[in-house]
Amino acid sequence: MSSRTVIRGGLVVTASDEIHADVLIEDGRIAALAATGTPAAGAFAAERVVDATGKYVIPGGVDGHTHMEMPFGGTFASDTFETGTRAAAWGGTTTIVDFAVQSVGHSLREGLDAWHAKAEGNCAIDYGFHMIVSDVNQETLKEMDLLVEEGVTSFKQFMAYPGVFYSDDGQILRAMQRAAENGGLIMMHAENGIAIDVLVEQALARGETDPRHHGEVRKALLEAEATHRAIRLAQVAGAPLYVVHVSAREAVAELTRARDDGLNVFGETCPQYLFLSTDNLAEPDFEGAKYVCSTPLRPREHQAALWKGLRSNDLQVVSTDHCPFCFTGQKELGRGDFSKIPNGMPGVENRMDLLHQAVVDGHITRRRWIEIACATPARMFGLYPKKGTIAPGADADVVIYDPHAEQVISAETHHMNVDYSAYEGKRVTGRVETVFSRGEPVITEREYTGRAGHGVYTPRSTCQYLT
Ligand code: URP
Ligand code: ZN
Ligand code: ZN
Ligand code: ZN
Repeated sequence: MSSRTVIRGGLVVTASDEIHADVLIEDGRIAALAATGTPAAGAFAAERVVDATGKYVIPGGVDGHTHMEMPFGGTFASDTFETGTRAAAWGGTTTIVDFAVQSVGHSLREGLDAWHAKAEGNCAIDYGFHMIVSDVNQETLKEMDLLVEEGVTSFKQFMAYPGVFYSDDGQILRAMQRAAENGGLIMMHAENGIAIDVLVEQALARGETDPRHHGEVRKALLEAEATHRAIRLAQVAGAPLYVVHVSAREAVAELTRARDDGLNVFGETCPQYLFLSTDNLAEPDFEGAKYVCSTPLRPREHQAALWKGLRSNDLQVVSTDHCPFCFTGQKELGRGDFSKIPNGMPGVENRMDLLHQAVVDGHITRRRWIEIACATPARMFGLYPKKGTIAPGADADVVIYDPHAEQVISAETHHMNVDYSAYEGKRVTGRVETVFSRGEPVITEREYTGRAGHGVYTPRSTCQYLT
């Protein structure tokens, strides 16, 4: 028996269009759209009719950068796949691409199997994986080909964290050469970690142990330098490059220059860099630890360059880098030594709302909101048009969004498994009302109606964003 839903009367917003249309969902997919009030829309018949008058009907968000249960600094990110994907759904995100981790001395396969085991049967929404490559050797390079074939088509490397995830330039070049051959996309954590470690040691020796020093030693120039180096290595290898969590205006300038030269170089930023700053890192009583992530938050002056980059398409994607650690017991590991604070911030639930606030504030248009949060991440990571748009044949991952509702972000009301909000007390206009994942209601008029295990692993094609 087929199950059908029709969503009537909303403003359907995609990356390319805004139309008042009724949306017919059948068997988990978008079956048809027709302008509201027309005979074609009137002919849509369904068991379930949802009134979206006065609301937006948008594609479910695609968050291309999350770390559920990620091991870091002797602890684990506090959201499991179960809690983290449920929180994502509450925030209007219906697909995540999480990072499986290869540990040094182990294979990519082992890392990927471990992440499948964590996720399978636990997710409220669909998920895919990138692979963190920490140990580039002949076996790893061969495994990259196999992973691309089975839908893990992107690989993160780190120019930071020597001794943990770090790759040197030769290892990076080899992985990029492999990606140039097998169609993989290299995602780069671009910070000069060797230089940063020297500055960390010197800061601690001077007694500079507070969270704000995390921002001072991880200099914008060292993000820009690494970004430049990654771009040139990718150019030498003939591979595309995606730079993750861009925060420094000097790094945006490097990406802009490369793109002006016609290179397939892409950049992602995150809400924390758009809305927060070193002022937060400087909050007293160790509260600054809540905002420790890498790349670090920057002085407020950097934000204009990020917004401009998002408008000019020198930055293409906003994802969260969701990597939550509780203040109590986890962030506290770094009291007296900022370098021991686990790096990462919560945000998977807040991204769609914060970017809608950016629409309200005039930073981006409504369609650009959908482009940077849904359509482009889907294209970038080989999920389009199954994910990231509302069109016949696409998965019915659909959000009914109330653009007029007012809310105050708070740890009291969020659903992420973390004891603070990075945006505590922030007022935003707009709120998720109802969320469908492949036609199933996961959130229904602000009640959770989903279930762990509804979300399935979603293999990906190679990058669909190359020029
Ligand atoms: O501080 C961060 N970003 N933690 C997560 C790991 C990473 O580098 O993305
Ligand atoms: Zn092993
Ligand atoms: Zn990173
Ligand atoms: Zn990350």
